[in-house]
Amino acid sequence: MAAVAKPDRIDTFSTIHNWESADYEPTLPVSEKSNPLTRHIDRAPASSIVKMLQACDAEMFLEKSQTQYQRLLSEEMVKTLMEVAERVRLILKDPQDSLVVLSGCGTSGRLAFFMASGFNRELQRLNYAPVYSYVIAGGDRALFSSQEAPEDDPTLGALRLKKVSEGKKRVLFVGVSCGLSAPFVAGQLDFCLRHPDVYTPVLVGFNPAHQARNEPIPGCTLTFHSVVTRMEELAKTQKAFLINPGLGPEAISGSSRMKGGSATKILLEVVFSASFSRTPVTFNLILQHMRSYEKALDFTYSHSQEIAALMEAAGRSLQCGRQVCYLGWGSLGLLGLIDASECKPTFGADHEDIRGFVSGGYKELGNNEGDLTLMGPEFSISHDDFLDGVLPRLTDDDTVLLLYSDSDDIDKVAKLAHRVREKTSNIHAAYHQTAGDAAAKQDDINKLCSSTIIFTWPQETPERLQHLRELSTKLLLNAVSTGAHIFKGKVFKNYMIDLQVTNSKLYRRAARLMQKLSGHSESECEEALLKAIYQVDKLSEDIATCSLETHTHTAGKAKKVVPLALVCLLSGCSIKEAESRLEQQPIVRKAVEACLKSS
Ligand code: F6P
Repeated sequence: MAAVAKPDRIDTFSTIHNWESADYEPTLPVSEKSNPLTRHIDRAPASSIVKMLQACDAEMFLEKSQTQYQRLLSEEMVKTLMEVAERVRLILKDPQDSLVVLSGCGTSGRLAFFMASGFNRELQRLNYAPVYSYVIAGGDRALFSSQEAPEDDPTLGALRLKKVSEGKKRVLFVGVSCGLSAPFVAGQLDFCLRHPDVYTPVLVGFNPAHQARNEPIPGCTLTFHSVVTRMEELAKTQKAFLINPGLGPEAISGSSRMKGGSATKILLEVVFSASFSRTPVTFNLILQHMRSYEKALDFTYSHSQEIAALMEAAGRSLQCGRQVCYLGWGSLGLLGLIDASECKPTFGADHEDIRGFVSGGYKELGNNEGDLTLMGPEFSISHDDFLDGVLPRLTDDDTVLLLYSDSDDIDKVAKLAHRVREKTSNIHAAYHQTAGDAAAKQDDINKLCSSTIIFTWPQETPERLQHLRELSTKLLLNAVSTGAHIFKGKVFKNYMIDLQVTNSKLYRRAARLMQKLSGHSESECEEALLKAIYQVDKLSEDIATCSLETHTHTAGKAKKVVPLALVCLLSGCSIKEAESRLEQQPIVRKAVEACLKSS
């Protein structure tokens, strides 16, 4: 990777201090704050969006902090990673009786699966027994579709952990909750704390401990905050570990799939790779490994113009109601599935809008519950499914993106590219190769594509190279899907304006957003939100007294809840009238702006 210039127009340092200062959005944890760098992302052209995303992602690696925040590269953080790596090493020595369990909700759970299966494959390659397991809130169907409700259930979290680790004598549990907020994970950590003879809990998240969510969890005496406080105490004697550096607010407020997901992947890969190494785990080994991800980030964004062009193509498809398809191979394909699945809760997208397909489908994945194809169209994830179900209806208005590398079967990539090219010229590729190893056949694929981003990586160990390519692909896909939804009008300033309201965190986020945008009181906003959820103009006593769980469950059946609620609140119109306004102006951002102007 050649040295790469940092973005010139965005002054990262001055804005950093802005969000770090005590009076910047003081009631919000870092993971929910709005990022000053992206305040105008909703009106920016693609090239500026990419620059903003680059500057936001670069915040992950900033070292200097004048405030209380630990950073990814802080000395204390690196030391904690070393300690956790040593714990993993002990488990590797005793695979029969030991286990590492990774768990989380939404993208955090998907990445838990991604890394557990990736590292088990690596162990098998080295002739070791697999030691990694995963738990995702909502089970395997949540790997590829949005299932937010189970995130609210701490008992379910603990039960799943108990089940997966039955009979083991030593378990290292890694719970990921970017916002230190998911009750599902809180329940699991609490379970570990109550069984210290077997379980050592590790919490990965991106807020300082005092910002952990302190909202009471129905039917339970815990809060996430109370669990973190107990862990902090045990961390002093290394009976628990907290890995919680501040990364800065997400580019789209609260969208933890972005930096949160990337940092989760970086931190856990650094720990697990270090535990494999034959030499002792040293401070410098960890630090250098982290730095290699920073270089990969800069290297990825050195292709910013090409990324912007791809973002525009995807945006055009979504704007005219058509589709974006990622066709990937191996772990890059899986990242496509992960990126696509998060668009529903974040942007209120339909599952058809952005879809991922991976070569080999379930056969390649090795997920706990096996083939899920029969569960419905969302679960058709193989290239064959794409050929049968999607290809016949493709047009030039759809965007297809191939995700592959020089370690994949180039003939197969070429064959699929030919099939797609017969239906649409709007085919693009992101291809990873190693310097000096350029494949001639890849040229044929290039010719079929209207654009190809070629990432040429320097020689590296195969595992590390693969991890860097994966991060690069994740950043690319996050940029493409986020940018495309911005063009579709699903972002207002830097807020997700059409988010789903399907669990307590999302419900609170939606109510807060409405307050922020409308200036109305908390109770007025919540009332408007409930009217939109239940599709009524007047709230009955029954509705008003329902539990939050009932509200979020009902919200799962409705569409455009937040835009509807905002239009009603700002214009005083009925739900029906708001629906027809949003039908006439499907760009949600513009519909809301029009109401804001006239209110
Ligand atoms: O509630 C849905 C969601 O916001 C997903 O978008 C996200 O990936 C998931 O929650 C996990 O959040 P966290 O890692 O903060 O628990």
